[in-house]
Amino acid sequence: MMVRFSNWNGFKIMQNEISHKNVKICNHPLIQVLISDLRSTETNSIRFRRLVKEVSRHIVYEALSDVPVKTVEVQTPLAIAQGYGFEYSDFILAPILRAGLSMIDGAIETLPLAQVRHIGLYRNEETLQPVEYYVKLPETIHSDTSVLIMDPMLATGGSAISAVDVFKKRGIKKIKFMCLISAAPGVNALITAHPDIQIYTGVVDSELNSNGYIVPGLGDAGDRCFGT
Ligand code: PRP
Ligand code: URA
Repeated sequence: MMVRFSNWNGFKIMQNEISHKNVKICNHPLIQVLISDLRSTETNSIRFRRLVKEVSRHIVYEALSDVPVKTVEVQTPLAIAQGYGFEYSDFILAPILRAGLSMIDGAIETLPLAQVRHIGLYRNEETLQPVEYYVKLPETIHSDTSVLIMDPMLATGGSAISAVDVFKKRGIKKIKFMCLISAAPGVNALITAHPDIQIYTGVVDSELNSNGYIVPGLGDAGDRCFGT
């Protein structure tokens, strides 16, 4: 059967009916094909990292589609052209360790001048609650800074909610969360805790198993990236 990803509406139904103005499902066919490959048990770590990098580049691209720009004048060899520059230029890319690291290479190619600020969180395997182990940020960050938090997986939503808290505590308002695979309960938890942020996800899977893993998902993203 051939599936055409032609509009948001058609896709919302296939993607577990997540419908919120701040949740964007990146339904470009290229992203969908790459994520399907990523899920496969036949994809080894080398290929997994390459795929994550490529999908991340596409999702960052989508996440930047509403970035404000201002008009600028550019001198070409022939004349002055009217062009565009970013309205504000402070971007932070914030990978959640470990698995989020795999998204940075793709993201930094798109935004080479962005700062990278790592957020160390892991999920307690029993309680599924996030545990913070590395956050080294200035107490205040310029309030115009735009933060793109990245993690391949949004499962219960606990890690994403904590990562957003970290930046909000420092006065940041422009926050987006990017992931490759999310679970519907996690998307709902994140948007409930932080209704003002925007979420970009490649796919939304329907459920979590009793260990908090996304089903069908892709397994443990950190382990698959780093061969552990
Ligand atoms: C994974 C994943 C997310 C988190 C998602 O990390 O990369 O950070 O779980 O789960 P949640 O939405 O239920 O919080 P993990 O805790 O396994 O750490 P790791 O990346 O270091 O392996
Ligand atoms: N973390 C992962 O890496 N995978 C899941 O399915 C859930 C959390």
